[in-house]
Amino acid sequence: DMGPYDHFMQKEIFEQPSAVANTLEMVFNAQSVSPGLFGNAAEKIFSKTHSLLILACGTSYHAGLVARYWMESVAGLPCAVEIASEYRYRNPVADPHTLVVGISQSGETADTLAAMNYAKQLGHLHSLAICNVAESALIRQTDLRFLTRAGPEIGVASTKAFTTQLASLLLLTVLLAKMRNKLSIEKEREMIAMLRHLPAALQASLQIEPEVQEWSQRFSEKRHALFLGRGMHYPIAMEGALKLKEISYIHAEAYASGELKHGPLALVDRDMPVVAIAPNDQLLGKLKSNLQEVNARGGELYVFADADTEIEESDSLHVIRLAEHAGILSPILHTIPLQLLAYHVALVKGTDVDKPRNLAKAVTVE
Ligand code: F6R
Repeated sequence: DMGPYDHFMQKEIFEQPSAVANTLEMVFNAQSVSPGLFGNAAEKIFSKTHSLLILACGTSYHAGLVARYWMESVAGLPCAVEIASEYRYRNPVADPHTLVVGISQSGETADTLAAMNYAKQLGHLHSLAICNVAESALIRQTDLRFLTRAGPEIGVASTKAFTTQLASLLLLTVLLAKMRNKLSIEKEREMIAMLRHLPAALQASLQIEPEVQEWSQRFSEKRHALFLGRGMHYPIAMEGALKLKEISYIHAEAYASGELKHGPLALVDRDMPVVAIAPNDQLLGKLKSNLQEVNARGGELYVFADADTEIEESDSLHVIRLAEHAGILSPILHTIPLQLLAYHVALVKGTDVDKPRNLAKAVTVE
């Protein structure tokens, strides 16, 4: 049942506040994060964990890339993130006390399952699944698990699964930080309060839909686009580019904005729209000078900023602002406008939004 929506993807984008609220419900009730949320053996396993290896594909891989920033900066844990289809054919060196984390909406992605098995064969002792399907193969084969409670995701392009994965990964970060004495009780409470605010913050982000829709006509006439982000928003730029190419068939690439002058700047001209994620964080100054480089080459900039991001609009620099700057949660909120952009561009182009050509919802073959 689609209710007031035209597509499952649209419905699932708008379900994100409740999907995240459901996923975090147990934490909100408890006021603190406990290992039990991840399974009976979690306390024992987490107390021995000294690094993480995240394995996933596609959008779920992007969630892992964001988590790496959180794990390093909040929990002080080394964290590697690998594309499952690559990991399974390398000869990496195993470390028994590296916790292997598989992230998957479906829990049936062949490459992710195979990579998790391979990691075990190599000598990793413990595994954790972050997954949206309780009775999936991934959940059956891991020691620990956390279910994202996004509800069934029907649209092939993943939306609510991604933001609930991020919420779960932040929860895991808070827990591991706490167990490693990196987080005071006050700080833990503060983090939980931020998480509690997340559904409302997501709701506020969704309000920008009409503004994003205004950009979609101009976008739909383009054949290529660049997506830029820095720090923990670089993986969000990757996710935005993936969404756009998947459902609108516009070629899009993401770059960490510091990389622009090492090559992709050569592509920039009036026909190359550049989408930039510009939260009001400590990298904003750097990002702004990257954007000036684009401007100087005649590129057209579409910037997603925060309410308080200092950035000036012009004929070639368009800005849409999110309601607030959400600190460490910012990557989750900045996902919303990119999902909406892909969706509205696809609508203008008349593509099959819920079933993009050549793609399947769960990739159960290699
Ligand atoms: C993109 C998308 C895919 C999946 C990928 C992994 O919108 O949906 O990139 O994220 O196929 O799928 P799961 O998460 O089910 O393992």
